[in-house]
Amino acid sequence: MIGVGLLGVRFAVPDRILTNQDLEKMVDTTDEWIQTRTGIRQRHILSEGESSVDLGARAAEKLLQDLNFDKTRIDALLVATATPEMLFPSTACILTHRLGLNGIPAFDFSAACSGFVYGLSIIKSFIESGAHRTVLLVCVEALSKIVNWQDRSTCVLFGDGAGAALLSATETDRRLKSILIGADGQYQEYLYVPLGGTVAMSGRDVFQVACRKMTEAATEALSKAHLTLDDIDLVIPHQANTRIISQVAKLLRIPEEKFFVNIQSYGNTSAASIPIAYREAEEAGRVRPGSHVLFVAFGGGFTWGAAVLKV
Ligand code: UT7
Repeated sequence: MIGVGLLGVRFAVPDRILTNQDLEKMVDTTDEWIQTRTGIRQRHILSEGESSVDLGARAAEKLLQDLNFDKTRIDALLVATATPEMLFPSTACILTHRLGLNGIPAFDFSAACSGFVYGLSIIKSFIESGAHRTVLLVCVEALSKIVNWQDRSTCVLFGDGAGAALLSATETDRRLKSILIGADGQYQEYLYVPLGGTVAMSGRDVFQVACRKMTEAATEALSKAHLTLDDIDLVIPHQANTRIISQVAKLLRIPEEKFFVNIQSYGNTSAASIPIAYREAEEAGRVRPGSHVLFVAFGGGFTWGAAVLKV
C-alpha cells in the first residue's frame, strides 16, 4: 500500500535578531524572567519591507536546491499560516508564482501552531487517495506583525520563521506510521488574534491544556502506530515553552534527552516551529535513518496533533 515519505525539510529565518536584552529596553521585563519561564534567549524578526512570502519562498527554494529536486514533480502546494500577507490571494497562490510552480493546486490553511501536523494529515489523504504524489508543505509565520510590542506577557514569546517540507508517495517502510489531529473551540478565548488585532492570551490556561492535549495526542499516535514509548528515538515537539516540553516529557515518561529543543534561538514560531526543529535535529545528527520520530503539536483554537514518522 502507498504511504507518505518525507523527502526533506529546510527552513529560513529573518537575519534580524531580537535578544532578551533588546526586549528589556522595550518593556518591563528581564532576561532572567524570560529564560526561566520560557527558555527563550532570542528570536528572529522580519525587517521593514520583508514579508512572510519572502521567508516561505526562501525556505522552499533552499529545500528544492539542496535536494536538487525536479520541481515539475510537485503536484500541490499547501501553506500553513496564521499570519498571511493578505486575505487573498493566499500565500500558497503567491508562492506558486515565486517558485515557478504555476498551475498546480495551492491553498493556505490555518491551524495555528499545529499547522505542520495538520499539513501532514491533509497530505496523507491526498497521497493515499491517489489524488497527488508529491506535495510541498510550507509553514510560515510572521508573528512579529501581530504581537503587541507593549504587552510584556506576549511579545517576549514569539518569533518569525518558515519551514518547508517535501512529502511524496512511497512504497517503502520509511513512511508516516500514524497521525491524528483534533480541535476544540471551547478554548478559543484562551488564545486568539482578532482580525486586524494583536495576540491575546491567558498564559496559564494555555499552559495547562497544552500539557494535557499534547500528552494525550502523543499517546494516541503511538498506539495507532502499534509502537511503545521505547520505540521512539526522537521527539520533535512544538516549541512554545521549555516548561511545557519538560512537563509533557514527564507525563509521557519519555526521557527529556529524547526531546529536541531549540526554542532558545527562535522563540515560538507557531506552525514553523516543528519543521525548524526537525531540520536542526537532523543537522545535529539526531535523526538516524530507520528510526522513529514523534511530532507533537498544540496551538490556538485549540488545535493539536501528533504523528509518528519512520525516517
Ligand atoms: O503555542 C501556544 C502559545 N502560547 C503558549 O504556549 C503560552 C503558554 N503559557 C506560558 O508559556 C506561560 O504561562 C507564560 C510564559 C506565558 C507565563 O508564565 P507564568 O509562569 O504562567 O506567569 P504568569 O502569567 O502567571 O505571570 C507571573 C507574573 C505576573 O506578575 P504578578 O501578577 O505575579 O505580579 C506577570 O505580570 O509574571 C509577570 N509577567 C512578566 N514579568 C516579567 C508576565 N510577563 C512578564 C515578562 N517579564 N515578560
